[in-house]
Amino acid sequence: MKILITGASRSIGLFLLKKFLEEGYLVYGTYSGTLPNENLIRHFTKVNVAENDEVRNWIEKSVTNEDEVVLINCAGINYNSTARRADVDDWLHVIDVNLGGTFRSINAVLPFMYKKGFGRIINFSSIVAQKGIPGTSAYAASKSALWGMSKAIAVENARKNITINNINLGYVNAGMTLNDVPEQLRNQLLEQIPMRKLGDLEDIFKTVKYLIETEYITGTTIDLNGGLY
Ligand SMILES: NC(=O)c1ccc[n+]([C@@H]2O[C@H](COP(=O)([O-])OP(=O)(O)OC[C@H]3O[C@@H](n4cnc5c(N)ncnc54)[C@H](OP(=O)(O)O)[C@@H]3O)[C@@H](O)[C@H]2O)c1
Repeated sequence: MKILITGASRSIGLFLLKKFLEEGYLVYGTYSGTLPNENLIRHFTKVNVAENDEVRNWIEKSVTNEDEVVLINCAGINYNSTARRADVDDWLHVIDVNLGGTFRSINAVLPFMYKKGFGRIINFSSIVAQKGIPGTSAYAASKSALWGMSKAIAVENARKNITINNINLGYVNAGMTLNDVPEQLRNQLLEQIPMRKLGDLEDIFKTVKYLIETEYITGTTIDLNGGLY
C-alpha cells in the first residue's frame, strides 16, 4: 500500500508521514515552502497544490496502476479577514489551495485507484466550518465545500472500493491552532472544549487508519473535536 500525503512538511501531515513510515508503509509527501529534514527528504516532492501540473506530475511519478493507494490531503492555509475587509484575490487563493488543491490531487489519483479497484481518500475539514467564526469566511467556505464534494465523489466511485471521507478536526495541539492562534485566544478556546484539551496527533493517526481499514464508510465525515460544537 502506498500512502500519499499533501502538506507533509509540518504539523499534522509530517506526523502522519512519520507514523506511516514507522509502520513500514511506502509514504510519499509534498512540501511547498518548508524544506523537510535531511533524513526524510527522499520521501518528499516539492509541490504547490494550486498548480495542476505539479500535482499531476507528483502523483504520476509516485504511483502505478498496480498500487493500492491512500491519499491524505493535509495541505491547507488560512486567511484571517472579515468579508467586508477581505482582499478578493487572497480570499480566492484559500479556496484554490484548500479546496482546489484537494480536488487536483483527487482528480490525478482517481484513475490509478479506479484501475486497481482500491482507493482511500481522506481530507481534513474543520470545526471552524461548522461554527461560524468571524474572519474565517474563506477558510470555512473551503472546508465546508469538502463535505459536498466528497459525497458526490463517493457515489461516483462506490463500486470500485474507493472511499472518500473527511475528518472534521477541532483545535489540535499542533499546526494552525498552535502557530496561528494567539495564546490568550487559545486559552479561551480551551474553556469552550468540553474535554478541556486540544486534539492529539495520535488520535488523528488512529482515525485516519480506521478510515483506511473500513471499506463501508464513504462520503461522510468524522468529528474529532473533544465534544466541541
Ligand atoms: N491544526 C489544527 O488545529 C487544524 C484544525 C482543523 C483543521 N486543520 C486542517 O488540517 C490540515 C493540516 O493542518 P496543520 O495544522 O498541520 O497545518 P500547517 O501546520 O499550517 O501546515 C500546512 C501544510 O500545508 C502545506 N501547504 C500550504 N500551502 C500549500 C500549497 N500551496 N501547496 C502545497 N502545500 C501547501 C504546508 O507546506 P509548506 O510549509 O511546505 O509550505 C504545510 O505542510 C489543514 O488542511 C488544516 O486546514 C487543522
